[in-house]
Amino acid sequence: MAPSAQPAIHPATRLADIPSGERGLELARRTAAGCTACDLYARATQTVFGEGRASAPLMLVGEQPGDREDLAGQPFVGPAGAMLDRALEEAAIDRERVFVTNVVKHFKWKPVAGSKRRLHEKPNAGEIRACRPWLDLELEIVRPELVVALGATAAGAILGPSFRITEGRGTILDVPDLRPRVLATFHPSAILRARTPDDRERMLAALVADLELAAETIRTA
Ligand code: URA
Repeated sequence: MAPSAQPAIHPATRLADIPSGERGLELARRTAAGCTACDLYARATQTVFGEGRASAPLMLVGEQPGDREDLAGQPFVGPAGAMLDRALEEAAIDRERVFVTNVVKHFKWKPVAGSKRRLHEKPNAGEIRACRPWLDLELEIVRPELVVALGATAAGAILGPSFRITEGRGTILDVPDLRPRVLATFHPSAILRARTPDDRERMLAALVADLELAAETIRTA
């Protein structure tokens, strides 16, 4: 844990004070802004809490904010967000009707020698665990019909470490101890990193098909 003048506030100690409903989301956001439950707050600009309506039937969960999201304080507003917006549009899903968040609410990065760039680093199991109460609170307040886990980190956090996107994506899953059902799919960043244009097209088509299934599932829920 990084040295800090303040004692660490574990989010779980505040959850009982937060009522459900629209006001609950705002209060949750303000409470999360002071989270020091793991080291990541020390090097991030701010907590990036989930965004969207408290009544959204669909919740999209990514890994963690990137460089642009860290500066803006909003999830999925950088290049991965543009790819997500494109897929949502192709699947005829209005982003206004979706709650978008991440399993980890602070940007984890390392410096690049000789550059001002901040290089994304994957969150570890302890960081994901420390941040989990915020995702649980978002789920409790929003009560979505369906959660879409974007990529391996979100899928691993929600469906367990043995889940593999390549084998298990595109299927609506019931998860023990979780009310909404879950659909795992490719992360928009994985599409941006695809090795060939063909791979990119194939992965984007799969993401769009999975989002179409998500839309159909909440329509018939
Ligand atoms: N990647 C994510 O997983 N989440 C974001 O908010 C942005 C990029």
